[in-house]
Amino acid sequence: MHIGVPLETRPGETRVAATPETVKKLIGQGHQVTVQRGAGVLASVPDSAYEAAGATIAEADAAFAAAILLKVNAPTDAELAQMQPGAVLIGMLNPFDNANIARMAERGITAFALEAAPRTSRAQSLDVLSSQANIAGYKAVMIAANQYPRFMPMLMTAAGTVKAARVLILGAGVAGLQAIATAKRLGAVVEASDVRPAVKEQIESLGAKFVDVPCETEEERECAEGVGGYARPMPASWMARQAQAVHERAKQADIVITTALIPGRQAPVLLQEATVAEMKPGSVIIDLAAAQGGNCPLTEADRVVVKHGVTIVGHSNLATLVPADASALYARNLLDFLKLVLDQDGQFQLNLEDDIVAACLMCRDGQVVRTNG
Ligand code: NAI
Repeated sequence: MHIGVPLETRPGETRVAATPETVKKLIGQGHQVTVQRGAGVLASVPDSAYEAAGATIAEADAAFAAAILLKVNAPTDAELAQMQPGAVLIGMLNPFDNANIARMAERGITAFALEAAPRTSRAQSLDVLSSQANIAGYKAVMIAANQYPRFMPMLMTAAGTVKAARVLILGAGVAGLQAIATAKRLGAVVEASDVRPAVKEQIESLGAKFVDVPCETEEERECAEGVGGYARPMPASWMARQAQAVHERAKQADIVITTALIPGRQAPVLLQEATVAEMKPGSVIIDLAAAQGGNCPLTEADRVVVKHGVTIVGHSNLATLVPADASALYARNLLDFLKLVLDQDGQFQLNLEDDIVAACLMCRDGQVVRTNG
């Protein structure tokens, strides 16, 4: 098959959907790969590295003319117009964005949004949410350490002793767990909270303290179980008790990293303005939910602001700040997904019996066919 890798055009995007490693594998499988000129430059992959792996370097029209397109972000209207009806598009295509899916359907392409893959062991190697959230969790701690006007570890020096930073992590999914591990490595004292009680053990196994907000009613317990590994919106009663617990812990914290998301919905508010107002001067909040409205109402997407003496970082896509590794992991996710939609002869096949393929399929033959989202 002819596989195209366009240059991503969304402002702030630095990643690319294929690396020389994945291109080499695709070519080894008998495919032809066209990479748009400069597609990997921001991810530290020069055109020459793709050429050495066997790809052809060409302009956008040649890359978009391919039968299978590997992309990071959903296509713009201009990009869609360059695609061939019937082409197969694979990327992070926003499964909850109905207008976007409808546009792709109208163009007659077959589109797979990998964010919609189920959270099962078989899907782990192609789980783009995990591969990118892991990076975001790491980078959040790096940015926090950079913004924080003190040391992270406890230090005993001739000039006196410095206390370890106290880090509070709200939401202990993939990003939160990586943030815990990274903050621990830097020597911080870490505590973390999540709505799902199942994460208590994971938090503790990383050396952090679990901030428990026990469920008191059957309704609360049912919501906290989540669906398919994801959280559900919690009843107001639980959210009020959580806000109280967070208020007390945040007052003691130096750094708060919030990562709480509920797929397809506005992020839950976990850090109220009244809490921020009582945090220590110079403390730092990194809000990983900034793109979904933020876990703190004071967060401004893609801005660093200081409010009540607290620095609040609202970067909406932290994985783009680690572009080389983010691309390397993402490209491997795509390679693993391709195995499910290519037959033994390397031809495209749509096997809807495969739960991962069925879940990721957004549209084909001009129709929106999304099964979830
Ligand atoms: P996410 O990015 O959707 O959410 C982040 C975290 O925020 C979650 O842990 C969620 O429970 C938490 N959260 C939501 N509302 C909250 C609230 N009000 N207060 C506190 N925390 C709140 O989740 P992510 O990181 O994508 O993964 C969620 C879980 O899915 C993982 O921990 C894991 O159990 C499962 N998973 C399974 C995979 C597999 O089997 N293939 C791969 C990745 C994750």
